[in-house]
Amino acid sequence: MNPSTPPSFKNPRAKYNFQGRTCSITGVGSYVPSRVLTNAELEKMVDTSDEWITTRTGIKERRIAGPNEFTSDLGAQAALRALQHAGVSPEEVELIIVATITPDMPFPATACLVQQKIGAHRAAAFDLEAACSGFIYGLEVAQQFITSRTYDTVLVIGAEKLSTIVDWKDRNTCVLFGDGAGAVVLQNRPNSHGLLTAVMGADGRKADLLFVAGGGSRCPASAESIAAGMHYLRMEGRETYKSAVQAMETAAEEALRRCEIDISRIKCIIPHQANRRIIDAVVERLGGKPEQLFVNLHKYGNTSAASVVIALDEAVASGRIQRGDLVLLVAFGGGLTWGAAVIEW
Ligand code: ACO
Repeated sequence: MNPSTPPSFKNPRAKYNFQGRTCSITGVGSYVPSRVLTNAELEKMVDTSDEWITTRTGIKERRIAGPNEFTSDLGAQAALRALQHAGVSPEEVELIIVATITPDMPFPATACLVQQKIGAHRAAAFDLEAACSGFIYGLEVAQQFITSRTYDTVLVIGAEKLSTIVDWKDRNTCVLFGDGAGAVVLQNRPNSHGLLTAVMGADGRKADLLFVAGGGSRCPASAESIAAGMHYLRMEGRETYKSAVQAMETAAEEALRRCEIDISRIKCIIPHQANRRIIDAVVERLGGKPEQLFVNLHKYGNTSAASVVIALDEAVASGRIQRGDLVLLVAFGGGLTWGAAVIEW
């Protein structure tokens, strides 16, 4: 598609430009740990094969953070890169939202630890937990603060150290996940490009498809809970798969409908990077084309809240997304939760 082709829809910016306030992504950055864990290495750890992992998921390798590298460190590195990209200093940030299911500790919030690490001392800070949909939830929350005139500059970070909640003896899950972080700087830029809409959804009736049972108020950490492996992530893979396809299709369609944008106008579709088969099924159901997709899960596996924003950063850095392009983000995760966003880049 020619990026300069004028869009055929009604001006979506007019609809999502709240009294002259536009929520624009002025910077994006990501960070992944240097340690690469390949499928070949996993073959030596559990009863699996590169062939099974590749054909069932599309994943070839993932990144693993070091023992002294925490979610806040990954998030801080990504945040500094996004701030540099935006040309914004840490002191200008007014709010930090960290989406994560692997906080450094139950409290204080990882966002407070990131605030300290990047020197954003003026910013309010809190964590947001919506599993793999967390980054898109974060975009919507940030947009509300910006359009309501509460803040002009918000940092939204998706950061995970999933290697700490993966049971490395469970082949059903350990091959799927990886560590990493991504961040965006969202700013009020009147009459500029920006976030057109973000859709959020949840279905707590399916909370038992994907969870960590231990370590909370329901089952506090104890010698027994640790022995039973309750601090590890558990997943009903097949049911999660079905729900993922349905929820991502619904969320993406709703986001496109709200903006009155046909899928054919989208330059780049960035789905949550969980499974290649899920991604292909969603794009087919939406009527999209494979060439619209941006996929990097072969390098990183599923990094939960970080996955969409790491992919967004790589799509921008590689030139796949240019200023003015329409971008569709869509995600799905434990909760169940789902979300989609349309951005005029
Ligand atoms: N290596 C070899 N065999 C394996 C492995 C492995 N790593 N893992 C499972 N198997 C076996 C199973 O034991 C099963 O064996 P059985 O038939 O003898 O019982 C067989 O492979 C097939 O299992 P299925 O569940 O049918 O495999 P499926 O094709 O569904 O793929 C997968 C499994 C990849 C987990 C898929 O179901 C999936 O991607 N589900 C969705 C996961 C997801 O998207 N999660 C996102 C949310 S993450 C978040 O929110 C944090």
